[in-house]
Amino acid sequence: METNKAYEEIISSLDPCAPAPEDEPFRQYYFIARARKSLAEVEAKLGRKLTFHVATFGCQMNARDSEKLRGILEEIGYVPVDTEEADLVLYNTCTVRENANTKVYGRLGGLHSWKKKNPHMMIGLCGCMMQEEHVVKTIREKYRFVNLIFGTHNIYKLAELMSRALDHPDEMVVDIQQKTDLMVEQLPVDRTYKFKSGVNIMYGCNNFCSYCIVPYVRGREKSREPLDILREIEQLVADGVIEVMLLGQNVNSYGKTLENPVSFAELLESVAQIDGLRRVRFMTSHPKDLSDELIAVMAKYPDKICPHLHLPLQSGSSRLLKHMNRRYTKESYLELVDKIRAAMPDISLTTDIIVGYPGETEEDFQETLEVVEKVRYDSAFTFIYSKRSGTPAAKMDDQVPEDVVKDRFNRLLLLVQNIGREQTARFEGQVKEVLVEHINEQDPGLVTGRMDNNSVVHFPGDASLIGQIVKVKLDKCHGFYYLGTQA
Ligand code: 5AD
Ligand code: SF4
Repeated sequence: METNKAYEEIISSLDPCAPAPEDEPFRQYYFIARARKSLAEVEAKLGRKLTFHVATFGCQMNARDSEKLRGILEEIGYVPVDTEEADLVLYNTCTVRENANTKVYGRLGGLHSWKKKNPHMMIGLCGCMMQEEHVVKTIREKYRFVNLIFGTHNIYKLAELMSRALDHPDEMVVDIQQKTDLMVEQLPVDRTYKFKSGVNIMYGCNNFCSYCIVPYVRGREKSREPLDILREIEQLVADGVIEVMLLGQNVNSYGKTLENPVSFAELLESVAQIDGLRRVRFMTSHPKDLSDELIAVMAKYPDKICPHLHLPLQSGSSRLLKHMNRRYTKESYLELVDKIRAAMPDISLTTDIIVGYPGETEEDFQETLEVVEKVRYDSAFTFIYSKRSGTPAAKMDDQVPEDVVKDRFNRLLLLVQNIGREQTARFEGQVKEVLVEHINEQDPGLVTGRMDNNSVVHFPGDASLIGQIVKVKLDKCHGFYYLGTQA
């Protein structure tokens, strides 16, 4: 990959037998060189190249982290493969809901069988789930075959940890930090798409919503310097990227704690002015912090800033919202939506909703349905409340019975799907720009891409269109996607 060429020159000039430098990211360049040497020895013994696979669980943040992990592993010399029957398998885990943890434990069983047949195989675990003490304890006790464990604060250290794990294949290397002020960037990255990329603008979360484990596993909010972000995007554009997604748990509080505070709206405007960049998106907005200034900037750059806001509602009941520590009410949320729509009538709104939060009554749930009906989301992620140990909500004893939650969940799903279908279809017959992402998985005669509002479009085309923005007539909406033809 183009952007990694610069790293390559530095890394190959380093002496892996010299003492390790202290400064980052140079320390990691050194360990890439060192791990490369150790890997070459294993390759010589086996008489072939070694392969790796990174499996990603969870959100966009993890997806971006996995691109960084893959970049480092490729720089060390591992060859990427699409299967878990690889020489190194790394799980980048999520722990936002209990079923994410269950999935990881289940899949580890499968990996163990593969490792028994291939004793040189290495297994690594990282990400949010590893920041929980009880998880690391369980793995140390019951999953002794795991080689490497690290958390969310030291992803950048993968080369150093891999170097240790390669030199000590019979030990379990564990490195979990509870916090860090360090943000190490400028490391190799393997982007999933050549033409679009996530860009971290901040890490962590300070909101402590009562049900959510994220602030405990991702730590306090830290914003990157705006100039570093802009430079990274300029480099991405030079490398062929035309769409970026600015990533943060709560992008609307970006920049508040910087030495020279900058607002998210100011950052977004600077990004929108970068030549060669065609689209900018962002995730996630907390309704309590969404400023008038941001709405004004979005409205000012309609062709460049994507007309889409993901605005997690969680619940429509002001009583529950207060309990959840969301710091907005049903009324203030609806007023915000009105303000957004007044400035951008065509904007697509999407959301996250939790059903079955402790103490949720039928009346509370009815208020959630009411907000869904009023806002008319293009789509909504609906979740059944999952108790996360260590969060304030986990201590509440009025948990909603499972059958009641399931019933409410199904009613909510039906409503969001019906409205989502109608909302998505509102552009039927129009010509819209679509960024083509890949060949359609079901029909190789079609390509699949996204409109600026994030709706999916399939239309006849071939691989030469991938990475291009194409004008497409939206012939027919089929629920949550369009079938179209090139205009
Ligand atoms: N249970 C269910 N859903 C949750 N989310 C966060 N924590 C929980 C939990 N304990 C949902 C929220 C958030 C999304 C990323 O995950 O809706 O916006
Ligand atoms: Fe979790 Fe709330 Fe932070 Fe989102 S804003 S990551 S829901 S604590």
